[in-house]
Amino acid sequence: MADTPTPPVGAIRGPALTFTGDPFQHGLAATMRHETDAIVAFEAGVVTHFGPAADVLAQLPPDLPVRRYGPDALICAGFLDSHVHYPQVPMIGAFGAQLLDWLNAHTFPAERRFADKAYARTVAKAFLRESLRNGVTTSCVYCTVHPHSVDALFEEAEALGLRIAAGKVLMDRNAPEDLRDTAQGGYDESKRLIDAWSGRGRLMYAITPRFAPTSTPAQLEAAGALWAERPDCYMQTHISESPAEIAWVKELFPHSADYLDVYDRHGLCGPRAIYGHGVHLSEGELARMHAAGAAIAHCPTSNFFLGSGAFNIARALRADRPVRVGLGTDLGAGTSFSILATLNEAYKAAQLNQYALSAGHAFYLATRGTARAMRIEDKVGSLAPGMEADIAVLDLKSTPLIAFRMESVASLEEALFVQMTLGDDRAVQATYVAGELRHERDAPPIKP
Ligand code: GUN
Ligand code: ZN
Repeated sequence: MADTPTPPVGAIRGPALTFTGDPFQHGLAATMRHETDAIVAFEAGVVTHFGPAADVLAQLPPDLPVRRYGPDALICAGFLDSHVHYPQVPMIGAFGAQLLDWLNAHTFPAERRFADKAYARTVAKAFLRESLRNGVTTSCVYCTVHPHSVDALFEEAEALGLRIAAGKVLMDRNAPEDLRDTAQGGYDESKRLIDAWSGRGRLMYAITPRFAPTSTPAQLEAAGALWAERPDCYMQTHISESPAEIAWVKELFPHSADYLDVYDRHGLCGPRAIYGHGVHLSEGELARMHAAGAAIAHCPTSNFFLGSGAFNIARALRADRPVRVGLGTDLGAGTSFSILATLNEAYKAAQLNQYALSAGHAFYLATRGTARAMRIEDKVGSLAPGMEADIAVLDLKSTPLIAFRMESVASLEEALFVQMTLGDDRAVQATYVAGELRHERDAPPIKP
């Protein structure tokens, strides 16, 4: 990531891939657009032209600088991550526990350190730098219970011009005392943060009750009341991630019909709700999510790492009651910032459910699909005039093995599948945020 922003380049040229609709509903032929030689031009952070270079060049001023990417590049919309915990970056890859033990042994101690705002800022910077190195330009982020953990992230994201959603974690029980707030205190602090940040530039707020076990009914009620006051905000939480967690929720909320009902009866189900995981949801819960316009964040690297289960994406998307599904890294239970690596695991999760997720559908999920789950597909997630100019430029031959494998590839679908099976951060050669070059893999190191 460059320290001083490079001025907007005006336009980039190379092979490009984008989606004009949802291939799960309408098929890839009708929704996937591949251009072998495209131009994306932008001004003031917004795409002004997208199409075959031969057509677009004629419409651009002759002196507009055009940055060219080679035939082995692929220009895509910037990737989105609909579920990630930035405070957990310092403890990715913590050995040996499933969800509830992992939270106590690794997560809460890591989140305690955010009592120090300077530390929060250091981690926020590292998180955003790694996101950009992986072509991720929009994330929906959990902070910690400390309000300044939100300020630190938003301050850093704003300086980079990023479209990011985030929120203060609400927890008033079943967590260490120094990580607990109260129903009223959490409401007041969240409200202050919403007033300070929501809708400021590209920033969005997510009301964030961590999950049912760490909030009293009074806190869930307060979160629901706040969301009713500010329905423009997201509401993010976890649901049905692991069997032990689900059993605990049954014990804590004996009068609720199921896990989703705990949230629903406190006003925490509706459009702009993003539920992390949802691995073990019942048919009734999926049908209610569909009716409510709520979304699931599918976090495959995390679900495998914690042994939570293999999310059945085909079932969630079932045509008679499709639920919106976005992709999430869920760091630090998730194990990679790379959206390509996350797609690799999403493919395996689907395979364990006898469904083969095609590369075209997977790239849709990583871009426009997650934008749709977040209800911002009119702003980001595809390449088209009027969209915000958040762009990832992939290198389709980023490692010796991938370059060798690409020699035997006969179609775009195959090439994309190789990328999601073998690719990682090295495959991202450039990341643009609102038209500004914010990551360049091969840039010379900045001298101190
Ligand atoms: N459930 C409640 N909190 C968390 C968390 O931090 N990570 C994951 N994966 N699941 C959770
Ligand atoms: Zn999570």
